[in-house]
Amino acid sequence: MANKPSDETTKPPAEPLIEPDRRRFIKLASCALGGGMGAAILVPALRVLGDPTNRTIVTTPSDPIDVGSLERLVVGAAPIKLDVVAPVIRDAWNASENVSLGAAWVQRQAGDKIVALSSICPHLGCAIGWSDKKGVFQCPCHESFFEPNGERTTGPSPRGMDPLPIEVVGGRLKLRWVTYRQGTAARTLV
Ligand code: FES
Repeated sequence: MANKPSDETTKPPAEPLIEPDRRRFIKLASCALGGGMGAAILVPALRVLGDPTNRTIVTTPSDPIDVGSLERLVVGAAPIKLDVVAPVIRDAWNASENVSLGAAWVQRQAGDKIVALSSICPHLGCAIGWSDKKGVFQCPCHESFFEPNGERTTGPSPRGMDPLPIEVVGGRLKLRWVTYRQGTAARTLV
């Protein structure tokens, strides 16, 4: 007489066992992954949709920028070139730190009397240099020359070098970075 198959052999194979902790972990990980992907898509989209039309998109620093110690400057010495670096510049979405704006030629005429001139040539924007040999400022691009006080002497530059507001606060040089339209005799802020 043939043996009747036992119940054990006719049962479907049991599901692989997953421990409850592991199952919960997989669930949580799936949720976190899904949520993260959703946020990655949604947040930029909401920012674009929510961007107010009249908002200033890029801010240029209007606060004075620290360009170093007054002690760096010797009264009556040749001008020295100082880099002007904004601690932070913001636009609608980002903030950038330590952004180089340009450079200024700075002279100490007496005590706290400091003169700062933009190194941007008013002609077409090349970087103006200082000639120790000639004791003048010179733009190498089209040979414009300027007196130590920034007045134009020769060359195509339509005006003298542009002054930059500077003051001494607590022994530090605080400079306000401003730029002017190039190629015009009049000094127009941009
Ligand atoms: S850019 Fe300076 S002289 Fe032309």
